[in-house]
Amino acid sequence: MRSKTPLPQLYPGRSRARRKHAFFALALAGVLTVSACGSNSSSDDTPESPSGGGANGTVGVILPETATSARWESFDKPMLQSALRAEGFDADVQNAQGDVQKFSTLADGMIAKGVKVLIIASINSEVGGAVAAKAKRAGIPTIDYDRLNLGGSSDYYVSFDNVRVGELQGQALITALKDKPGAQVVEIEGAPTDNNATLFHEGQQKALRPLYDSGALKLVRSQAIDGWDNQKGGSTFEQILTGNGGKVDGVVAANDGLAGAVITVLKKNGLNGKVPVTGQDATADGLKAILRGDQYMTVFKPIRDEAQAAAKLAVALAKGDTAGADALAQAVSQDPKGKRTVKSVLLTPQTVTRAEVKQVTDAGFVKPADICGGDLQAACAELGIS
Ligand code: GAL
Repeated sequence: MRSKTPLPQLYPGRSRARRKHAFFALALAGVLTVSACGSNSSSDDTPESPSGGGANGTVGVILPETATSARWESFDKPMLQSALRAEGFDADVQNAQGDVQKFSTLADGMIAKGVKVLIIASINSEVGGAVAAKAKRAGIPTIDYDRLNLGGSSDYYVSFDNVRVGELQGQALITALKDKPGAQVVEIEGAPTDNNATLFHEGQQKALRPLYDSGALKLVRSQAIDGWDNQKGGSTFEQILTGNGGKVDGVVAANDGLAGAVITVLKKNGLNGKVPVTGQDATADGLKAILRGDQYMTVFKPIRDEAQAAAKLAVALAKGDTAGADALAQAVSQDPKGKRTVKSVLLTPQTVTRAEVKQVTDAGFVKPADICGGDLQAACAELGIS
């Protein structure tokens, strides 16, 4: 991570009000990040509450899938369980495995059970919006977790500054290609049904568009991948590469799962390690690819901070403490489909290249044992990762 608490970077074009809120959100996020140091070990050490959880009832959590990113089961699930129990709740954390019908059925069960709050990281805005409406009719507050449901009705949204995530990816690729004027770039993007993918792409373009326009870089193709499907991401990239005469100089991959699929294709063409590839989520596979030199960077999002923010917001909502909830969610996010502004907690993401991998393991997010085996022992020793 380049810096513990990057100065809040405000984006031109935002309204003054949003800038103020963004400033406070980022400052708050900065404090959260420093205090938690992104310490994100999946065997989280958050102390159980005296009542051992449960006294305040149950909070339901529905995660979207597993195949697209290791984060949901490796990090979000254990950290949400810890954070919610530390706030005196039982945590019922389920995963919809990418199936919208299952997502809806899981929600029905939790609503029928009378959860105090429902936290949803939705597969798409349609199912997320329908679930939030159903919960509202049952008098259950909902929090959009990590992904904003466009046209939805959750009063609060907890995530990272996802435009910033994309900006970090774009800026990193520009750095990696700085000695290659006219370098040819392929963009392999996330699911068009995931508002985060839209925001990642928006941030990437803030960095890359001026260089595309000037000719300093050449965009071969930008392609969104349905469902973040890693297999599809690899085959799509292969088609683009073939169509471009086997030529590519840099790849924007929107997360580590897609980056891994791209690297597999680059390996088949003897290009891995020669073509910088971006990623996101600081997964063990992503960090290993960075240590091998096959992936240039990932974006570390301290999921424990995200889980803790969601848990604290759930406490306020369970008590009907709107002022308390508003005091936590001082940023705002736009929902262009619902034509509404959503009160948000937007946390700070961090760039991780080879030099910063140690900071991710030191933060306890990924264990050294998960990435330093076999051919990577020497790399870990060289970088002081143990
Ligand atoms: C996004 C999430 C990312 C990424 C992707 C795939 O919405 O914010 O962390 O991993 O989903 O699951």
